[in-house]
Amino acid sequence: MTDKAKALRDQAAAEIARALPGAPLELCADLHLLTRDGTLNADARRKLKQIGHLITQLRPALDDVLARFPEPVIVDCGAGKSYLGFLLYATVLGPAGRGTLISVESRPELVIAGRERAARWGMDRMRFVEGTIAGAELPERVHLVTALHACDTATDDALAVAIARGADHVAVVPCCQAEVARLLADAPVEDPAVASLFAHPWHRRELGSHLTNVVRGLALEARGYQVSVTELHGWEHSLKNELIRGRRTQRFDRKAEAKLAAVVDRFKIEPAIVRALAAAPRDAT
Ligand SMILES: C[S@@+](CC[C@H](N)C(=O)[O-])C[C@H]1O[C@@H](n2cnc3c(N)ncnc32)[C@H](O)[C@@H]1O
Repeated sequence: MTDKAKALRDQAAAEIARALPGAPLELCADLHLLTRDGTLNADARRKLKQIGHLITQLRPALDDVLARFPEPVIVDCGAGKSYLGFLLYATVLGPAGRGTLISVESRPELVIAGRERAARWGMDRMRFVEGTIAGAELPERVHLVTALHACDTATDDALAVAIARGADHVAVVPCCQAEVARLLADAPVEDPAVASLFAHPWHRRELGSHLTNVVRGLALEARGYQVSVTELHGWEHSLKNELIRGRRTQRFDRKAEAKLAAVVDRFKIEPAIVRALAAAPRDAT
């Protein structure tokens, strides 16, 4: 290796160590987060920071499930190339020596590539489920569900998986939530003040996006989760930056159910997560 190549490699290794301590340089290279000459380009740097931040935010939940369960099951919904899954396994589950990570992804070629990579790296507690999140065959009981930028209602499907399988923790960073804006376009709202909030398409998109995540938070609270909503990281990285986290503390919460009912009634909408709750009554979960 030339001196220049070695210097570039050392620089990349230092950046990786800052973004995600413990992440192996060789794994990042294998995930194509490094260019051919061994550097991080802007996209890879952004991705690595995003995942580093998410794993940091997930850390208390990961520590909790590792402390309470001998073999915790972690589900990553809409996993894509499974950057999150591989780096989470490498930095947390691998060193812990237990726990299973299940990546759910609808694109078969990504699932095949993920399986091959996991086999090459000896990550034998990493599994891949091909198909939709809503239809995925998963264990009856899972402990932590996450979804990083699962498109539109795929985030709702991830929340529904968490609720139905009694996940102790859930953490989602939603992406391109467009469903509620579509629903608002036809919502028979009579209150002129409320209707004015989304009369223009631009406002419909903005309010729809916000309302989607408000409803998601209330849905989690209604099913017994203590919810926090924060930003994942500094705005310079991505606009898809809202992190919704929930920790299950009880089976349900009647006050949150009432708030959720009031919001959907006021805006005359029935978004995906509300339909999912209706299909899985709380007494059945
Ligand atoms: C924007 S990418 C994010 C990938 C990855 N989580 C990340 O942050 O790098 C969303 C991924 O979710 C997958 N996806 C979208 N809807 C899905 C669904 N309903 N069920 C399973 N996978 C889905 C897409 O194929 C895509 O790979």
